[in-house]
Amino acid sequence: MTPRAVLIGPPGAGKSTIGRRLANALELELLDTDVEIERRVGRTIPEIFAAEGEEYFREVEEQVVAEALESHAGIVSLGGGAILSDRTRSRLAGHTVVYLEISVAEGLKRTGTNTGRPLLTGGDPKARYQALMRRRRPLYRQVASIKVRTDARSPSRVVQQLVKKL
Ligand code: S3P
Repeated sequence: MTPRAVLIGPPGAGKSTIGRRLANALELELLDTDVEIERRVGRTIPEIFAAEGEEYFREVEEQVVAEALESHAGIVSLGGGAILSDRTRSRLAGHTVVYLEISVAEGLKRTGTNTGRPLLTGGDPKARYQALMRRRRPLYRQVASIKVRTDARSPSRVVQQLVKKL
């Protein structure tokens, strides 16, 4: 079994919202790897980062993503940093990978008040988001087979477009 589509992109790009709506539109199940990690570890993501650190989170994430790619036939939504793993990027080859693109300004606006994202919490959020995108943009592009901007159109329009392409 292989996912119909795997959604990637930075925090705020709309992976959860679009994932949910796309899965509904295609009558498929959504597997959100962040939710699966929380279920498996029995803690929220901020708790995992605080108690065990990012490295541990990334190990669990890599495992959860590998299993999702092998066994989930619906839509898979990955956490924004999942593509940092070389092994995950290799595993994504051959899958339908949708990169939800967003500008730094809009991404920041959407994540600005959200405290549930440890990597964007504290310090200067703009500098953090920019640094994150400098490192990740090439990686998102490298693994993407479909790219769609999510800042200029509504989630329903994005979903309509994706349904046509998938
Ligand atoms: C992360 C993004 C989060 C979550 C974790 C780490 C990241 O998911 O996996 O906080 O490294 O960008 P979202 O992209 O759904 O916010």
